[in-house]
Amino acid sequence: MTIPRILLISGSTRAASTNSAALRTIAADAGPDLEVSQYEGLTDLPQFIPGQDPEPPAVQDLHRRLGAVDAVLFCTPEYAGMIPGSLKNLLEWTIGNADLSDKPVAYVNVAYEGRGEAAVATLRTVVGYAGAEIVEAACGRITVVQNDIGPDGLVGNAEARARLNAAARALADHVRRPAAPLTSVKLDNRG
Ligand SMILES: Cc1cc2nc3c(=O)[nH]c(=O)nc-3n(C[C@H](O)[C@H](O)[C@H](O)COP(=O)(O)O)c2cc1C
Repeated sequence: MTIPRILLISGSTRAASTNSAALRTIAADAGPDLEVSQYEGLTDLPQFIPGQDPEPPAVQDLHRRLGAVDAVLFCTPEYAGMIPGSLKNLLEWTIGNADLSDKPVAYVNVAYEGRGEAAVATLRTVVGYAGAEIVEAACGRITVVQNDIGPDGLVGNAEARARLNAAARALADHVRRPAAPLTSVKLDNRG
C-alpha cells in the first residue's frame, strides 16, 4: 500500500495566521502512514495572466507540487464574503494545467461558529470549476482562535488538534480506498 500524499494549502498570507497554524499542526501530527507537505508559496505567485509561455517559476513549482500529491487539503479565511484573492489567484493558475482535475480535495473551516461560510461556499465553487473531487467526509469546521496557537506555532488545544488530524486522515482514507469495481450488466431482452 502506497502512502497517501497530501498537500496543505492555506489561503492566508498573514504571518500569525490561524489557518496556516491549523495546517502546520496537521503536518506536525501526521504519522508515518501519511506524507504531508505544506505549500508556502502563496505570496510568491504572480497575478494570473493567461497564456504565458513559459509560465513563471513559482507557477511551475505550484504545478509540480500539485502533480506530486494524491489530495489537497485547504484551510482558508474569508475576506469580504469569499475566499481571499490570493487563493483565487492560485486556483486560477491551476485551471489550464488541470492540476486539480479529479484530484480529491477537502477543506477545514477554522473560523468562529457561523463565520467563514462564504469562504467555504466560494472555495467549493472554484475547486468545482477546477474539476476537483470534494471529499465531504474530510471537510469540516474546527474553530481555531489565536489563543489556541502556542509559541511553537502549533494549535495547542488538544480537541481541535485531534479533529484537525482526523480531517487529514479522512482524506487519506479516501485516497487509499480501492476504486469501485466495474459492475457487469446482464442484458435481458425478455421485457
Ligand atoms: C480584509 C479582510 C476581510 C475580511 N472579511 C471577512 C468576511 O467577510 N467574513 C468573515 O467571517 N471574516 C472576515 N474577515 C476576518 C478573517 O476571516 C479572520 O480574521 C480570519 O481569522 C483570518 O484568518 P487567518 O488567521 O488565517 O489570517 C476579514 C478579514 C480581513 C483582513
